[in-house]
Amino acid sequence: MDGRDLMRSVRMIGSARGLRALRHAWRGRRVDAWALPVRGVERARMPGLALDARALPGGGVVRFARSELRILVAAGGAVFWGWDGAGPEPSYALAGLCPDPDGRVVLEPDTGGGWRVVSERVTVAVSRHGGIEVRTPGGVVLRRELPPRWWEGVPRGGAGGPEEVVVHRWVQRAEVGADARFFGLGGRSGGPRLRDGTYRLWNTDPGGRFGPGDDPLYLTMPVQFVVADAGTHLAFYDNSWDGQVVLREGEEGGGSGHDRAGCSEVRMTGGPLRCWVVVGTPARVLHGWTALTGRPALPPSWALGPQHARWGFGSAAEVRRVVAGYRERGLPLAAVHLDIDHYDRHRVFTVDREAFPDLPGLARELREGGVRLVSIVDPAVRAETGNAVYDSGVAAGAFVKDARGREVRGEVWPGECVFPDFTDPGVRAWWGEWYAERLAQGFSGVWHDMNEPVVFSPFGDATLPRSARHALEGRGGDHREAHNVYALEMARAGYEGLRRLRPQERPFLFSRSGWAGMQRYGGTWSGDVSSGWPGLRASLSLVLGLGLCGVPYAGPDVGGFDGRPDEELYLRWFQLGAYLPLFRTHSAIDAGRREPWEFGPRVLEAARVALVERERLGPYFMTLAHLARLTGAPYVRPVWWGAPGDRALRDCEDAFLLGDALLVAPVLEPGADQRAVRLPRGRWYDTVTGEAHEGPGQVLVDAPGVGGMGGAGGARIAVLARAGAVIPVRGEGGELVLEVWAPAVGRTGSGLLVRDVGEGWGEPRVERFTSRVREGRVGVEREGGGEVGVPVRVRGL
Ligand code: NOJ
Repeated sequence: MDGRDLMRSVRMIGSARGLRALRHAWRGRRVDAWALPVRGVERARMPGLALDARALPGGGVVRFARSELRILVAAGGAVFWGWDGAGPEPSYALAGLCPDPDGRVVLEPDTGGGWRVVSERVTVAVSRHGGIEVRTPGGVVLRRELPPRWWEGVPRGGAGGPEEVVVHRWVQRAEVGADARFFGLGGRSGGPRLRDGTYRLWNTDPGGRFGPGDDPLYLTMPVQFVVADAGTHLAFYDNSWDGQVVLREGEEGGGSGHDRAGCSEVRMTGGPLRCWVVVGTPARVLHGWTALTGRPALPPSWALGPQHARWGFGSAAEVRRVVAGYRERGLPLAAVHLDIDHYDRHRVFTVDREAFPDLPGLARELREGGVRLVSIVDPAVRAETGNAVYDSGVAAGAFVKDARGREVRGEVWPGECVFPDFTDPGVRAWWGEWYAERLAQGFSGVWHDMNEPVVFSPFGDATLPRSARHALEGRGGDHREAHNVYALEMARAGYEGLRRLRPQERPFLFSRSGWAGMQRYGGTWSGDVSSGWPGLRASLSLVLGLGLCGVPYAGPDVGGFDGRPDEELYLRWFQLGAYLPLFRTHSAIDAGRREPWEFGPRVLEAARVALVERERLGPYFMTLAHLARLTGAPYVRPVWWGAPGDRALRDCEDAFLLGDALLVAPVLEPGADQRAVRLPRGRWYDTVTGEAHEGPGQVLVDAPGVGGMGGAGGARIAVLARAGAVIPVRGEGGELVLEVWAPAVGRTGSGLLVRDVGEGWGEPRVERFTSRVREGRVGVEREGGGEVGVPVRVRGL
C-alpha cells in the first residue's frame, strides 16, 4: 500500500460503502492470486539470427532461429510487423479487417545478411539480428527498432488454477532522431511534448482530480507521434495489455558527431508484439492512421456549440433556472448535460421522478428554445433484483464473471454493482438497446463516464480484478487484456445502439476513457481536471495529444472540475475553451458554479465576447468537423503542423492552430496582459486589431484579462489569422459569410467550406476558394470556376 492508497483507505473506511469496497477489493485480490499465473522462473528470448525469408503479398516473413517476423505494407502505405506469428488481426483498434496488402512491394536481401521490404513511400529493413529500420525512400532512418526481447516461463503457483499459461512479457526498444520530439500516448496531462519519463498504458481514474504530472489518466493508448527533421511518423504497438513506455529525448552533439538518439522503450506485460507505422507529413500520417483505425465520427452541429454541465443540478427547476439565466442574458447555449444525480439513486437508465417528474417534457421545452439535453451513462449496474437493467442483463448473461464463474461485483455510485462485458458482441447489442430509454426521456446525446472501468477501492487498482473473465469476441481472456479496450467497446455498444434506434440522426457520444480507434464512435473530454492554472495548461495538452492520436473532438471541464476558480482563471479557461471542439463548462457536486454570470459583470461581458465569437465561427467549426471526418486532421493542431521541420515551433506548447486559418495563443498564467506568440512562416493578422505580423518569429500580442476590460477591445486572448485565409463564419443575421484575410502582395491564399448537412448522414460537398490581391483589391474565386455564391467580407487591408 503506498501513501495514496493509505489516504484512500482512511477516507473510505468507516462508511458502509467503504466497508463494501474493502470487501470487494480483498475478494478481487484473492481471486487474482488463485487464478492468475504466478511468474515463475523466466527465460529471456531474442529472435536469434535470420535464417531465411519468403515473400508474401505486401511483404513477407523472415524466419529467425527463435522467432519469425511478418512484415506487411498495406495499400495505403501503412507498415505492419508482427513477431512470433502475430498478424494484424484480431485487433480492437482497426476499423475493419486489415487493409489489403500493397501488391507492388518487393522483399529482397539487404546488406549484412538482412532483408528489406521496399514500397513506394517507405522501406523496412530487417537486420539479421531482428532489428527493424523504417526508412524514407531516400534512405533516411525514421525509426530503428532494436531486436525485441521476450520473457517466458511456466508459472509455478498457477498450477491448480483454471489456466496454466506461459507468461509472455516483452520489451521493445526503438531509436529515433536526436532532434525528435514525442507526442501522443493518448490523453496525457504533462504534454503535449512528452518529455523524458515513464508513461503507463493502463486507463486509470486518478480519483477526483488531476493536474500536470498525474499519469496515467483515463485514456491511454500505445500510439507515439514522432516529429523530427528526418520526417514525421506514428508508431502504434497494437496491444491492449498493461504496459509502460519509457521515453528519452535525444541530444545533439552540436556538430561533434556525438548525437544521442531519442529512445522509446515499450514494456508490455503480455499480448502480441506487433506494430503499425505510418510515415509522411503530419496530415498524411493522420490520414493514414484514421484510414486504418476509422475516421472520426461527425458530431451533430449543435455539439459544436457552447454546452453547460453540472454534477448536482438536483432538479428540473434548477435546470430551467440555469437555462433561463443564459437566455435572459442573451448568451448562446446549445446543450445542458445531466449528471448521475438525475438518476434514481444513481442507477443507470433510470430517472429520479421526484426531482425530474417529466423529463421528456423538460427536454421538449428546452429543445424548443434551442437547447438539447445530454445524459451521462455509467457502465456499472446496481446489482439488485428488481432493477430492470440488472434483471435483463442477468437474463442476457451480460455481466463480467470471475474465474470461478461468479459475477464480479464492485462498489460504484449506485452501491454494489456488476459490469457489462462489452467485449461480447451480444452484450453490446443488449446494452445498445437500453439507449432507447434515454431517447424516450428526450436526450439528444450521451456522455460515457466511469468506464476505465472504475470500482471504488481502498487500495490497489480501482478497477476490476485482473483475472475477471471477458469474452473478447469469443476468443476468451481476462481483464488484463480487456481493461484498456473496455470503454472503447462501451462506446461501440452505445454508438451502434443509437444508430439502430435513431438511424436518421448522427449519434452524439463522448467518453472519458477509450483506446486507439475510439474516434469512430465519438470524442472525449478531460475528465476531472483540477481547477488551477496547471489544470488549464493540462487541458490544452490533452486536446492536442489526443488529436495526434486520431481523436479530434475533445475539450476540458471549463473552469476545472473541483474547487472554485477565481475570476481571472475562469475567464482564461473560458477563452481557451471557446476555441476547442468540445466547449463545455462543468464542475463537481461540491465545487463552485461555472455559469458565466457567477463571476461578476466584468467576466460575464468577457465571456459573452468569447461565446459570440464561438457562435460566429460555427461554420468554420462545422467545416473542421467535416475535414476531420474526411481526412483525420484534428481541428486543434500543434503550431508545427504545417512545418514539422521548424524546431522552434516543435517546442511551442502553449499555442495551437485551429484548422489552417487561425493561430490561437491562450493565456495560461495569472497576471498576464500580453502574450508572446511564436509565428509560423508567413503573414499573420491580429484578429482584433487587424495588425499584420510577419513570421517566422515571435511577437507580443495584447491579451488583457479581467483587469483590462477598459482597454480597447476588452479582455481577450491572442488569435491570429493567416494571410489569405478564407474562413466560413456566421454573419450578423445568421447568414453564411466568407471572411477573407488579405493575402500578402503577390501571394494567394485559400480556404474550404463544408456546409452543415443537418442531423443526418448527407454526404457533404467540399467547396474550395482561393484568395488573391488584384490591383489593390482582394478577390475570392471558387475553385473550378462559377459564382462564389457566398457574401465575402475582407479583413486585414
Ligand atoms: C466523474 C466524471 O469525470 C465527472 O465529470 C462526473 O461529474 C462525475 N464522475 C459524477 O458523475
